[in-house]
Amino acid sequence: MAVEKLGIVGSGIMGSGVAEVAARAGMTVVLRSRKQETADALVAGLGRSLAKQVERGKLDEAEAAAVAGRVSATADLEALSDCDLVLESVVEDLETKKQLFGELDRLVKDGALLATNTSTLPVVEMAIVTSRPERVCGIHFFNPAPAMALVEVVRTLLSSDETIAEAKAFAEACGKSPVVVEDRAGFIVNGLLFPYLNNAVRMLENRTASRDDIDAAMKGGCNFPMGPLALLDLVGLDTSLAILDALYTEFRDPNYAAVPLLRRMVAAGHLGRKSGQGFYDYTKG
Ligand SMILES: NC(=O)c1ccc[n+]([C@@H]2O[C@H](COP(=O)([O-])OP(=O)(O)OC[C@H]3O[C@@H](n4cnc5c(N)ncnc54)[C@H](O)[C@@H]3O)[C@@H](O)[C@H]2O)c1
Repeated sequence: MAVEKLGIVGSGIMGSGVAEVAARAGMTVVLRSRKQETADALVAGLGRSLAKQVERGKLDEAEAAAVAGRVSATADLEALSDCDLVLESVVEDLETKKQLFGELDRLVKDGALLATNTSTLPVVEMAIVTSRPERVCGIHFFNPAPAMALVEVVRTLLSSDETIAEAKAFAEACGKSPVVVEDRAGFIVNGLLFPYLNNAVRMLENRTASRDDIDAAMKGGCNFPMGPLALLDLVGLDTSLAILDALYTEFRDPNYAAVPLLRRMVAAGHLGRKSGQGFYDYTKG
């Protein structure tokens, strides 16, 4: 079954990015935010992003209008009931996600796929609160969703082969290249990436080198497009901490034990780009 209508729950960095990707691929998208003002602001933000792409000649005006016309935003979860696939992309917290899966299972039509964009949490725990665990999987987009080619499709012990095939087909219809991975914290990319990011914070904390030199070293020495501290700011330090905590809970590997500086920055409200302050200051234009 091809996905014609996509529901997205969560209007943060990832929810809005995936909405743009799917609408550009021709799908109808309903984006649910808890507050109608946030939902409306997102649609306005999408309009601005599309207008910029028209200015840069990446999209013509008619296409931009068509993409914008395919996205609507709501504060009402019931508006997602006739979606073919609902992807949740709310805060990285298992209890919040489980509660949401229970509600979605009651509301969304029989046979629809329910998926999570979680970076690390056990997908099977979200599946078992539903009456359709075989129709639940992870569909993990990367940040920023419009630019990143990869999607990890996460298979739980209960996901059916049809579910995995449909999730892969959805990712491909979005213009992405899916890989399939078992339901282990961090999947492939974050399992390998986060020890590196965490150790970069440790180097900063130990004063091995300055912020700018750590980032410059990994760009110049490994040809990475951005340094680890800038990447943590892009991901969001709260989300990064939640990812490390989930990895540590699962594997007890000291490389996954969040460095105290990261935890203190989150406590201080320094969340990276989204709060204006992280390892870098984003408030000065
Ligand atoms: N940031 C990344 O780089 C990245 C990449 C891939 C996947 N993810 C995953 O995507 C999901 C969302 O991350 P994000 O970066 O968009 O986060 P974000 O902080 O930008 O947005 C989180 C969203 O969750 C909503 N929310 C918070 N508490 C909630 C609650 N109790 N009930 C319902 N909604 C609630 C917030 O209003 C917000 O819209 C997480 O599971 C994260 O692990 C993040």
